[in-house]
Amino acid sequence: MALRRSRFVFQMKPPGKSAELQNGQRRGVGRASASGELERHTGLEIFINNDWHESKSGKKFATYNPSTLEKICEVEEGDKPDVDKAVEAAQAAFQRGSPWRRLDALSRGRLLHQLADLMERDRAVLATLETMDTGKPFLHAFFIDLEGCIKTFRYFAGWADKIQGRTIPTDDSVVCFTRHEPVGVCGAITPWNFPLLMLVWKLAPALCCGNTVVLKPAEQTPLTALYLGSLIKEVGFPPGVVNIVPGFGPTVGAAISSHPQINKVAFTGSTEVGKLVKEAASRSNLKRVTLELGGKNPCIVCADADLDLAVECAHRGVFFNQGQCCTAASRVFVEEQVYSEFVKRSVEHARQRPVGDPFDVKTEQGPQIDQKQFDKILELIESGKKEGAKLECGGSALEARGLFIKPTVFSEVTDNMRIAKEEIFGPVQPILKFKSIEEVIKRANSTDYGLTAAVFTKNLDKALTLASALESGTVWINCYNALYAQAPFGGFKMSGNGRELGEYALAEYTEVKTVTIKLEDKNP
Ligand code: NAI
Ligand code: MG
Repeated sequence: MALRRSRFVFQMKPPGKSAELQNGQRRGVGRASASGELERHTGLEIFINNDWHESKSGKKFATYNPSTLEKICEVEEGDKPDVDKAVEAAQAAFQRGSPWRRLDALSRGRLLHQLADLMERDRAVLATLETMDTGKPFLHAFFIDLEGCIKTFRYFAGWADKIQGRTIPTDDSVVCFTRHEPVGVCGAITPWNFPLLMLVWKLAPALCCGNTVVLKPAEQTPLTALYLGSLIKEVGFPPGVVNIVPGFGPTVGAAISSHPQINKVAFTGSTEVGKLVKEAASRSNLKRVTLELGGKNPCIVCADADLDLAVECAHRGVFFNQGQCCTAASRVFVEEQVYSEFVKRSVEHARQRPVGDPFDVKTEQGPQIDQKQFDKILELIESGKKEGAKLECGGSALEARGLFIKPTVFSEVTDNMRIAKEEIFGPVQPILKFKSIEEVIKRANSTDYGLTAAVFTKNLDKALTLASALESGTVWINCYNALYAQAPFGGFKMSGNGRELGEYALAEYTEVKTVTIKLEDKNP
């Protein structure tokens, strides 16, 4: 994989075949060659004002392929001065009278649709970059991550010209109405588990509402964000509307969350860093903060459930994306009558799960993202063994190069074990037993988290009782990870603040202005 300096040509054979990154000269444009291969050129640099910039410090950092442990390339490493420059550009693009502010709402929506078109055109390239950088199976990147990105842009494209205020009757001789105006410069700090999708969840509503943006992708996975920069430019967004500063959390991330000229920050990641972002926001300018943090999500399987469906959904729910999901079904509560059968079938599923090269179309599970996560997961697996959970299968790393962990199932898990309390973020399924609905409600809710919950039952009363009693932002009944651009997503308790997606997201990216006009006529 030849990659020097900071520009690359990306050459791509049809999906699933080998892909390589090479040095290139040109930037920001793409073309299909006579042989049908797609070539695109973009920067591995900081994207400000629709152009690529070297970092002010001159530093770069490497990004690795977690399935081979090889370095993919080096990327310019941003820091506070680069964030300052990006914010300056975003502020200028937001100025009254700027091309972006003058753009009518319908045209704003059109730009979002065009961006979705380009993502469709380059879907295989984006999915390949995502797979190289994260290790997630290529087919998942292509059919799940990219599908979500494209649909999210299209959904918010439709909202752009439908963001409207109200006329409010008051008890005086006035006309009173509201305007929903953009917040201004918005920051976004995103994680490595769904690098492009988490960024799009923030970028699409921000742009739809007419804001400008400074984005920081996770240091483990900067490549798709940078590629998106080249698409932003190609679509024709005015310079400064979208700016991308790759780099690390304590430098770039902290500079964004504490920047006095950023009016809002959206963060997805750990609860620990979510607290830091909120603190920094409070200390600087009380910027608005939306947080999407961790989860220890209960998945409740009642004795009357369709057991095949429940086993399948719980399996996918916890193992999807190598277990690296804030929505992971990481506490499976199974009613005692069906407990041993559920464990038996879950173990069969886990044993059969294909782990390996993410570019192999049969692969369902790739490597973990980095050494830190890999070590954390193995340490938690050891704690499960020590604390008396029954290891049914897996329980160690795969004897292969790369950060692969065997799909692991624990039965006889109790509430006080670390694997039942802490976010594992890996391919580990802890299965617990319950006797009654009241008991499982209490146990499911006894966590600081509250992101998602799932219920498997054929009984409507039970389903609706649990749906209202569970303290979480999402409850899935007889399904799992059913996420839609139209439906809001976010957490109760320490799983976060605010909502992404759906109409609810618009409120997070707009200010409400009340305009009151006094009329001369006392009786209008
Ligand atoms: P993290 O919270 O450190 O990383 C997420 C983002 O925050 C990255 O872009 C990172 O650069 C940035 N960041 C780090 N420190 C920052 C700071 N001081 N100020 C501003 N931004 C900062 O998560 P990490 O260390 O990669 O993973 C640790 C654990 O967090 C995982 O094991 C998992 O439990 C959880 N996690 C949850 C995610 C979710 O989807 N809710 C995503 C990633 C991690
Ligand atoms: Mg990487």
